[in-house]
Amino acid sequence: PKYDLPDYLKEKMEAYMNNNITIFDHALLKHKISLIRNKNTNTKDFRTLVSEIGGLMVYEFTRNLPLKSVEIETPICKTTAFELEKDIVIVPIMRAGMGMVDGIVNLIPTAKVGHIGLCRDEETLKPQTYYAKFPDNITTSTVLLVDPMLATGGSAIEAVNILKAKGCKEITYIGLVGAPEGIKALSEAHPDVPIYLAALDEKLNENGYIVPGLGDCGDRIFGTK
Ligand code: PRP
Ligand code: URA
Repeated sequence: PKYDLPDYLKEKMEAYMNNNITIFDHALLKHKISLIRNKNTNTKDFRTLVSEIGGLMVYEFTRNLPLKSVEIETPICKTTAFELEKDIVIVPIMRAGMGMVDGIVNLIPTAKVGHIGLCRDEETLKPQTYYAKFPDNITTSTVLLVDPMLATGGSAIEAVNILKAKGCKEITYIGLVGAPEGIKALSEAHPDVPIYLAALDEKLNENGYIVPGLGDCGDRIFGTK
């Protein structure tokens, strides 16, 4: 909500930037996003950075999560301490979302991980589902749906459809780079799902790639092209 849209996005996006959409304004995130945008960043560095950015974004996101009090004993005395009220389940959209998981589970080692396998048909850009597997506690957990790229929004919308059909009630989308088209589509289809991004880019090109973007994220993480 506090994000200042660049002039060229104002007309296109102002009406959509509600309280459920956050574009992080953080110097370290901007620095690391610039590194992964660079086509000369190699696979190993790219993979490390995607994981680090995922962790940093979730660190910011978890700042205000509800806590519950627990009684513990320090080496000195009994005291009231805190733990997260709800379990956290991370759901990466395969393949590229898997690149964000390590950075997040390093911060939240008790988080369980579900998986949704989606692949965009290169002609129609529509997502095809090829896999879905979730931990038992997913319906009562805070679910973090993670995928680096929010392009047309088709994959994110389908993933949320799958999670809602499974019974998930509290779903948050966390992505690295988004296009205006993806934000509009996801927030219209699922207005109850908060969207967090590290960068909002200008547009999609004719092949459905984000401009300026960072190219094909799955290929860059896994070295497949
Ligand atoms: C990429 C990316 C997203 C999707 C975004 O996956 O990781 O899941 O595209 O595009 P959309 O918003 O237009 O749906 P891709 O389909 O290329 O599969 P991959 O991760 O297996 O390479
Ligand atoms: N998927 C990607 O990996 N990159 C894009 O720019 C769009 C979709």
